[in-house]
Amino acid sequence: MPAFDAFRYAHDRYHEVAWLSQNTNHLVPPSVIEGAIQQALREHRYEGYPFASGLPELKSLVLGDLGFPAGSPCLVTAGGTESLYMSARALLSPGDEVIASDPSYLIIHRFIELSGARTVNLPIYSAPWRLTADRVNEAVTDKTRMILLIDPLNPLGSGYPESEVRAIAEIAHDRHLLLLNDVTYRDFAETHTLAARFAPEETLTVWSVSKNCGLAGMRLGGVCAPTEMSQKIGRYNTNDLGVNIFAQVAAVAALRTKKEWFPTVRAQSRKNQEAIRSAVAQVPDTHLLVFPSQANMFVIDIEKTGIAPEALQRELLERHQVFVRAGDYLSPKFGGRFVRLSFSNPPKDVARFVEAFPLAIAALRKGRPVEAPARS
Ligand SMILES: Cc1ncc(COP(=O)(O)O)c(C=O)c1O
Repeated sequence: MPAFDAFRYAHDRYHEVAWLSQNTNHLVPPSVIEGAIQQALREHRYEGYPFASGLPELKSLVLGDLGFPAGSPCLVTAGGTESLYMSARALLSPGDEVIASDPSYLIIHRFIELSGARTVNLPIYSAPWRLTADRVNEAVTDKTRMILLIDPLNPLGSGYPESEVRAIAEIAHDRHLLLLNDVTYRDFAETHTLAARFAPEETLTVWSVSKNCGLAGMRLGGVCAPTEMSQKIGRYNTNDLGVNIFAQVAAVAALRTKKEWFPTVRAQSRKNQEAIRSAVAQVPDTHLLVFPSQANMFVIDIEKTGIAPEALQRELLERHQVFVRAGDYLSPKFGGRFVRLSFSNPPKDVARFVEAFPLAIAALRKGRPVEAPARS
């Protein structure tokens, strides 16, 4: 029997599934981008190649959004993912070490390994649920080349206070290390500090419009770094003819107006977190690690239930059409203990999780499925 493919299952039922699995944002009003995409369609913008280095307005909006000086280097790529890949290939060599965490967004670790470097994963599955400057400092060796600072952190949802960002940036500066600051979830945080403020020469800031602007399907992000570093990274660009034009016009429309609608996205995400917290509190042996999350996701520890996260993922998906993510995708060491779910979704998706979670846990505890109540 072929293994159960959760993504195949969920994509085959795209509109029936509550997508709490990939930290995507389903709360941005469609009117924000629809007009821009329709106009690009009417103008047949798809017939020509886009301006290869990215729409100038897009770059200036990104720089403005991050608070970097106008005209600073800013590479536009197919998602933050491509920038992460290019950066790892361009800046790391065999034998290099990168100080990172476990749990983490492990795709970055894979890119680091592809360049022949290795990650030194500091366990952070205990308070304060993030790296600390002291631990980073202790972990630096003469092979260390980079620190990976994902802030806020996928999957735990922990954010870094300014003092810690500053202290980690100072380590990078003092010890001549690169600092990869992945700020994909920045807008969801109550407060956020860019590491580039304290270590401008060492920091590369990877940004994305997938989560803040609800454009994950468009595949657009990039990296801002000092000129020389940008040039090195740019040499690994595989999208030499530019990034999808529809993605770029959509991102321009979203970034132009983000200040107007993002507060509503954040507020609804906060309410959703609360609803999930109440539901989890009522299910014995399960608990949230980080609350409130500074991102649009967090994890539920289910270790004490004795239930495997993969089993819970499958039960929730197949029986309830609620898609969450099993921890093994995010942690070699702790992945057997948790599921991650995101909550920048309409309240009805969250209500479905709230209803399904106790049923799924009860079913798996008994070793047999519990029938879901019929949904109208
Ligand atoms: C920390 C982090 N960085 C980067 C990405 C990828 O972003 P993009 O969709 O822009 O490729 C993700 C996606 O989940 C992420 O969690």
